[in-house]
Amino acid sequence: MTIQRAAELIGGARHGLALTGAGVSAESGIPTFRGAGGLWTRYDPVKVASIEYFMADPSAYWNVSKDRGRVALAARPNPGHHALAALEAGGRLVAVVTQNTDGLHQDSGSRTVIEVHGSSRTVQCLDCGNREPRSEVQARLDAEMPPRCGICGGTFLKPTVVLFGEPLPQAAIQQAFALARQADVMLVVGSSLVVYPAAEIPLVATRSGAKLIVINAEPTPFDELAAVVIRGKSGEVLPEIVELIDG
Ligand code: OAD
Repeated sequence: MTIQRAAELIGGARHGLALTGAGVSAESGIPTFRGAGGLWTRYDPVKVASIEYFMADPSAYWNVSKDRGRVALAARPNPGHHALAALEAGGRLVAVVTQNTDGLHQDSGSRTVIEVHGSSRTVQCLDCGNREPRSEVQARLDAEMPPRCGICGGTFLKPTVVLFGEPLPQAAIQQAFALARQADVMLVVGSSLVVYPAAEIPLVATRSGAKLIVINAEPTPFDELAAVVIRGKSGEVLPEIVELIDG
């Protein structure tokens, strides 16, 4: 039984680490990027999510970002997020490294969350540096496009997410790789594992001796490295694993 084996490995972990991707938030109603119904099946990511595109036309960026932002702000953690928080609280995970920017891990009670692609809950003015909650900017998008900075009036208000062409937050990346090198169990959930350097985190962990567990709806390029591959929904599989460990 693969779920049983995953529970044994995670239950015995002394330095377990999780890496999550958009699939973990799919059951909260936030569409993934790739795979069935993914955002990048409708839009060209290099166009709508690159810093060049944003700088050339912030309105065009916000016109796409507006809908996703509304959905993400209304979303609530699902049983997959809660199960990861329970694994951390029980000492099975030291941290959740996430490519997601939606803040749902923090909302579900995970304490050590390393956001390697930034956070969409905050917006920053590229002119004066002022930061505002995304919820406040989101509320005025219908009346103001592009949104203007509340301090300097500038029109380059950008969510604090990493767009294509931007550097990653170095402290978060370094922390994630340091934890990967120490991990004895590496759990990857809901990621296609095609975006680097995040996809290298499980590679570094397995090279350092960690057992890899992949829980994803579709195959990933790292499945053959894994001790356990579970093809399923994280909101169903993770609570079962917690139940097997704690129940
Ligand atoms: P992707 O959209 O590439 O992959 C999500 C994966 O989750 C897919 O392989 C799906 O099959 C799987 N999936 C969908 N629903 C699931 C569920 N309920 N349970 C488990 N798995 C499920 O998302 P990421 O790998 O996170 O980057 O994408 C990485 C990066 O690409 C994102 O952070 C974003 C994007 O461009 C930036 O914005 C910088």
